[in-house]
Amino acid sequence: MNLTSKSLIYLIGVILFLISFIGMIYFGYKTFYIEAENNMAPQEYTYHFALIAEESANDYWRLIEQGAKEAAKEHDIYLEYVAPQKADNDEMLKLLDRMISAQVDGIITQGIEGDRFIDIVHKATERGIPVVTVDTDIKSSERKAYVGTDNFYAGQLLGNAIIDHTSGEQYVGVVTGRFDAVNQQERLEGLKDVIKDHPRIQIVSIKESNITEVGATQATYSMLKEYPSITALVGTSALDGFGMVEGLREIAPNKDLYMVAFDVLPETLQLILQERIDGTISQAPKEMGYSSVEVMLDLQTGDLLKNEFFTETKLIQKHDLEAEENGVRR
Ligand code: BGC
Repeated sequence: MNLTSKSLIYLIGVILFLISFIGMIYFGYKTFYIEAENNMAPQEYTYHFALIAEESANDYWRLIEQGAKEAAKEHDIYLEYVAPQKADNDEMLKLLDRMISAQVDGIITQGIEGDRFIDIVHKATERGIPVVTVDTDIKSSERKAYVGTDNFYAGQLLGNAIIDHTSGEQYVGVVTGRFDAVNQQERLEGLKDVIKDHPRIQIVSIKESNITEVGATQATYSMLKEYPSITALVGTSALDGFGMVEGLREIAPNKDLYMVAFDVLPETLQLILQERIDGTISQAPKEMGYSSVEVMLDLQTGDLLKNEFFTETKLIQKHDLEAEENGVRR
């Protein structure tokens, strides 16, 4: 091999190395999406809080972030929004650990199922970093407070919607966010709790959407294919409603099912106004974000007397939206 071909091989080697190195940095960044758009210099802020979301670009979590950033701005707090790019409990736990190592003044996080979360909250507490759960609570952990929906109650609201707005035998298909998300489990328990006294209503299938619209579409499609007898569909996380509509459109466009979604993202409200979804269970994500920062701020000077701060949740139907448009408060 002459000198030029040796240098060529060497050059290709260097290029390949650079490509894989850049790829590693890029995908590493994408996996642990960290946003530090807050440009405050360290001496300009009072506290540094971390907000750990279930999934970075999810519209529902963006509303929590928005509320949290509003409160942070008012109190000169540096709020860092961090989240896995795709919902993943393991990655969230790693982020939690990283925020402890970064010695933030407080961690606001979605509660995560399992002992590892309990251990990590214990570790934060031992190091003097208070943890507040938002959106999903893990009561058995040493978290100082929870801010968010009473998820069992929200599930009961879903069940009551079916009880109150349908008649005769109902075969229900449930699209749920993730089986390993505690708030989804609690919503399902609440739903089952109220329908157990109504034998005319039966759950025939429960499928995961992985908190994505396409996941909800697929879940709905396969559920309706497997159980064409389904008469009602309910979704228990924010993007399930529009996925359900799409899934139904694909497999049985002329079928009229009773459908209840979750959350009040604009697309869901639009579908209610178009009468393609019958109702949705509202949550208050912006308020959750805002209040969780205020609660965390109070925790900087000592423990609180209260440790559960439930935000509002209720059934919203077309007439509620129309009344709101006309400026009438119901
Ligand atoms: C849940 C969140 C979830 C989101 C997914 C909401 O209903 O409260 O935990 O991340 O849906 O889109």
